[in-house]
Amino acid sequence: MADGSLRMRIDLPAPASEPAWPDDVVVRTFRPDDGAALHALLEHGYRHGGGSVAPLAAWYPALTGDREFDPALVVLVEGADGLAAASICWTSGFVKDLVVHEAWRRRGLGEALLRRAFQTFDERGAGGVELKVEAGNAAAIRLYERVGMRVVERLP
Ligand SMILES: CC(C)(COP(=O)(O)OP(=O)(O)OC[C@H]1O[C@@H](n2cnc3c(N)ncnc32)[C@H](O)[C@@H]1OP(=O)(O)O)[C@@H](O)C(=O)NCCC(=O)NCCS
Repeated sequence: MADGSLRMRIDLPAPASEPAWPDDVVVRTFRPDDGAALHALLEHGYRHGGGSVAPLAAWYPALTGDREFDPALVVLVEGADGLAAASICWTSGFVKDLVVHEAWRRRGLGEALLRRAFQTFDERGAGGVELKVEAGNAAAIRLYERVGMRVVERLP
């Protein structure tokens, strides 16, 4: 598996493409009482790698107290049984977390969340959107390339 991580970027405006959501989900932004469920989704999504998350008691105040936190940039996708997916972006145009519950993978939620982030940051006048991904996370890198992101830096 490749070591290190990659910084990837897309310049905005991105080629127009509306997010396409499955019919059986509700998409909304963060509310303060979402903390525990969002944290559980991150723990689940990262348990085989791809990222990491601090314990809830440290993670929640660090997230909501960050100067780049904006609840409008935390997008949650709810399925009938709870959270199906989420993305957390910082105001600088950085995708901090992108996680889809295993039961919901390969239905386009990752792609739709990214396209929604591109739209949101374009509306805010940002010049681009960036993220970091582990160099060995092939599924995520394929997704990012499919939506038009390119590697701009290799990090040790
Ligand atoms: C990476 C991740 C977010 C992708 O989420 P996802 O919702 O499965 O992504 P998508 O459904 O948009 O695309 C994934 C694959 O499903 C395919 N797909 C999308 N919609 C589909 C559909 N309706 N039917 C069949 N396949 C579909 C895509 O073509 C893609 O195929 P590929 O991997 O062969 O290229 C998810 O795997 C995940 O949460 N991983 C763990 C956490 C992680 O690594 N996050 C990234 C950190 S940088």
